[in-house]
Amino acid sequence: MAPKKWETQNPSGTKRIIVTKELPGSLWLERLIQADCRVEICTATDVLEVDEIKAAIGSQCDAALGQLTENWGDALFAALKSAGGTAYSNVAVGYNNVDVAAATKHGIPVGNTPGVLTETTAQMAVALTFAAARRTGEAERFLRAGKYKGWLMTLFLGELLWRKTVGIIGAGRIGATYGRMMVEGHKMNLIYYDLYPNPELEDYIAAYADFLKSRGEEPVICRRADTVEDVLQQADCVSVHTVLDESTHHLINAERLNLMKANAVFVNTSRGPVVDEAALVSHCRKNPNFRAGLDVYEDEPDMKPGLIDLDNVVIVPHIASATRWTREGMATLAASNVAGILSGFPAWNRPDILPFLAEDPPKAAPSIINADELGIPIFKG
Ligand code: DGY
Repeated sequence: MAPKKWETQNPSGTKRIIVTKELPGSLWLERLIQADCRVEICTATDVLEVDEIKAAIGSQCDAALGQLTENWGDALFAALKSAGGTAYSNVAVGYNNVDVAAATKHGIPVGNTPGVLTETTAQMAVALTFAAARRTGEAERFLRAGKYKGWLMTLFLGELLWRKTVGIIGAGRIGATYGRMMVEGHKMNLIYYDLYPNPELEDYIAAYADFLKSRGEEPVICRRADTVEDVLQQADCVSVHTVLDESTHHLINAERLNLMKANAVFVNTSRGPVVDEAALVSHCRKNPNFRAGLDVYEDEPDMKPGLIDLDNVVIVPHIASATRWTREGMATLAASNVAGILSGFPAWNRPDILPFLAEDPPKAAPSIINADELGIPIFKG
């Protein structure tokens, strides 16, 4: 393996931070420089192996900013600890690549970047829903191949989701936002499955239903389902927004796909392994009117055999959070997590993390997952 190139910013900083990929924007770097950090950034675009990260940590390293593509397990947290490290942040909201228990065992706070991906990711789920329902990928390929010979009543007939039923599996921040976008934008009824009820979402949709009624329109309905199966059977499009853990691995499998309507749309912007991708390939093959929109894959960056050839699947390369504002925000939050811990600040105390993107951010670390376990004080203010 050829050694990767690293570049250094603020070489005179007294705390050494490694950043395993280049990050967008400049605020993140300012935050680290303000915390007196020397910042070493890997400029390679391929995924770093554990040994490469270990080598980069070396014998002295105060903190690291890592990526969701890297395996931050016991080996790396042990290496960081013995190099004097006291903080790690994933530059992502999801942290299925991080062994938080191992980090906690080594006394290392772990940060993530919630709150700046919500609308951006939900929008991509909406985009994939309609790209799949209205067959934009197929139609574009057809046009670019010079096959369009004139308007036809029968060309690329898709599905009209207006006033139908949208299903969400996982009604946390992103799932609920996707649900509201679909309900408000397309007057759909909503059915959701989540371990916990989302009263805020239910109240919001009830208020929207009242608004529609007040205008003499048919109201929309929101219902929490008892099972994933119920959502899959009832909905015309289903979007998955769960975390990835043992309980959600292959949550969507062949049996459950078979419960869906033959012309339904299935969308995944969460994590690839939540779906049994080989089962999805075979389901889409057997059901040409079933459509899927995917941002994430089981063996990313690879895809299961056959997926790439399916016309009824729209695929994008894990870009659901890829707007400039969101990605710069993620970088700034990750840097602020690390800078906050290195500066001895407490952990932030509320879900609104936008103050951390402002000029004069709070003196806190915005999102530390294991703050309670490590006894990190909570911000008071
Ligand atoms: C995350 O932050 O977990 C997202 O998957 C990145 O798009």
